[in-house]
Amino acid sequence: MSGPRLARRAEQRPPATEQAAPLPTGSGRRADEDRRVSVRNLTVRYTAQDPLVLDGVDLDLYGGETVALLGASGSGKSTLMKSLTGFAPITSGTVRAGDHDLTDLRPGQLREVRSQIGQVFQQFNLIGRLSVLTNVLTGALYDAGPVNLLGTFSSAHRARALELLDRVGIAHKAEDQARTLSGGQQQRVAIARALMQNPRIILADEPVASLDPRMSHTVLDLLQSIARQEGIPVLVSLHVVALAVEHSDRIVGLRSGRVVLEGATGELSAEGLASVYDVDDEDGDD
Ligand SMILES: Nc1ncnc2c1ncn2[C@@H]1O[C@H](COP(=O)(O)OP(=O)(O)O)[C@@H](O)[C@H]1O
Ligand SMILES: [Mg+2]
Repeated sequence: MSGPRLARRAEQRPPATEQAAPLPTGSGRRADEDRRVSVRNLTVRYTAQDPLVLDGVDLDLYGGETVALLGASGSGKSTLMKSLTGFAPITSGTVRAGDHDLTDLRPGQLREVRSQIGQVFQQFNLIGRLSVLTNVLTGALYDAGPVNLLGTFSSAHRARALELLDRVGIAHKAEDQARTLSGGQQQRVAIARALMQNPRIILADEPVASLDPRMSHTVLDLLQSIARQEGIPVLVSLHVVALAVEHSDRIVGLRSGRVVLEGATGELSAEGLASVYDVDDEDGDD
């Protein structure tokens, strides 16, 4: 199977500056209009008895950048992503994603927020008995309105879905049942499905945790190239530090619900990266 030929390896981007206008697309410009996510002093607690799961988290995501979220199991990576899509109980702080303030939404707006955020998961979350093409088309459901999954998408949507499958390198599998594909192929279908939403942001929660090393590189290359080409931020949580170093522009490290590390990928020391995994309470379970 030939993987998609996509990303150039990350050229180091220059440090962020106020006058970053001349940088090429997707190189981490810091113009305010490029900010797609802004989290300030976020705390999350699932139940009154339990401790804070997120404790004073700040996060900004800008169009074009791939930000790796590192942290041990239980550090709050998934909860931070869920805070951006309204699936986590925000206790205090502010969370803006796209055009919306997640702490002040009406129900219809939550659906709109979710339609603007493409999500990729560890277990791919495809509908296995349906074709690859149909799975990608489900990404257009918000746009298409309620339709019969088995056939009533517009020809424009179908053409777009095929184009996206071609982009992720598996157009030749379009008519196959999703469950017959390898893990790496299924994850690429999931990425095409996310792109079908024309997302303003992509969140990928441990997208390569179930993949072998070679396919992990392919999928992370793909995500980084999408961030650059589409000019959207990709937030990707990872378990393996080396993958984050190779496939991100910026790294944010969480430990026990706090941001303990943040910086341009090329500028972080090995010690700094390792410190994200220091055990600093009795709950450390990695
Ligand atoms: N729905 C939930 N209800 C209660 N506690 C939760 C829930 N989801 C996560 N937690 C707790 O929040 C903490 C952070 O979990 P999570 O965000 O999944 O971390 P990570 O993705 O880094 O492994 C863990 O202690 C976990 O047990
Ligand atoms: Mg998680």
